Amino acid sequence: MIDNAVRGRFNAWFLAALDGYMHWKYSDIKQRLLERAPQVVVELGPGSGANLRYLSRGTRLIAIEPNRHMHPILRRRAKECGIELDLRGLAGEKLDLPSASVDFVFSALVLCSVEEPERVIAEVRRVLRPGGRFACVEHVAAPAGSSTHGIQRLIRRQWKWVFEGCDLCRDTASTLRSSGFAQVEVQSIVMPTILVPIRHQIAALCVN
Ligand SMILES: C[S@@+](CC[C@H](N)C(=O)[O-])C[C@H]1O[C@@H](n2cnc3c(N)ncnc32)[C@H](O)[C@@H]1O
Repeated sequence: MIDNAVRGRFNAWFLAALDGYMHWKYSDIKQRLLERAPQVVVELGPGSGANLRYLSRGTRLIAIEPNRHMHPILRRRAKECGIELDLRGLAGEKLDLPSASVDFVFSALVLCSVEEPERVIAEVRRVLRPGGRFACVEHVAAPAGSSTHGIQRLIRRQWKWVFEGCDLCRDTASTLRSSGFAQVEVQSIVMPTILVPIRHQIAALCVN
């Protein structure tokens, strides 16, 4: 569970500090994934609320955020963006939502950090209605043999410690494809970014 007093605070500060940069880098991808978001959205790991700006004002956001140090800034952000926030200090591995109760779940840079991605995705499928959608943008392992893959392997342990579980070497596309969704579309992206270890990304849209 994410509850480290120092790293939890550091990560809340770090995300808020990078907000403008991440918006510059990710706005096209996130706008596309969120353009048809319904009135009720579940977001896994919303952090400091970087993605609230892409939702329509009046959206009800069920926010699954285990790092309580993110909560004050997330609340402030929701107010600024006109989002009705339903904040739950839980991990995505066990959602307190009824089965087949929502139409849309979103995550950005979260499946790298959860302890058990397969369990989180199974929970997403459980709470989605048939035909409901899960959209995500996630950083993934670079191709084996590439220099970025070498960097990812070299700093993997330290990165995971600092960023509270964030694993640079996950193959999230395969995890999504084998998770039982009726449809999975994955776009691979190599993003020019100063954050070299996370330049390999996927944007995925899955239908339950
Ligand atoms: C890199 S941050 C991304 C934050 C935000 N989604 C964004 O786009 O800026 C990862 C987030 O995932 C959250 N997280 C980590 N483990 C989680 C879990 N098991 N369930 C839900 N969220 C989790 C962290 O607390 C953090 O807010």
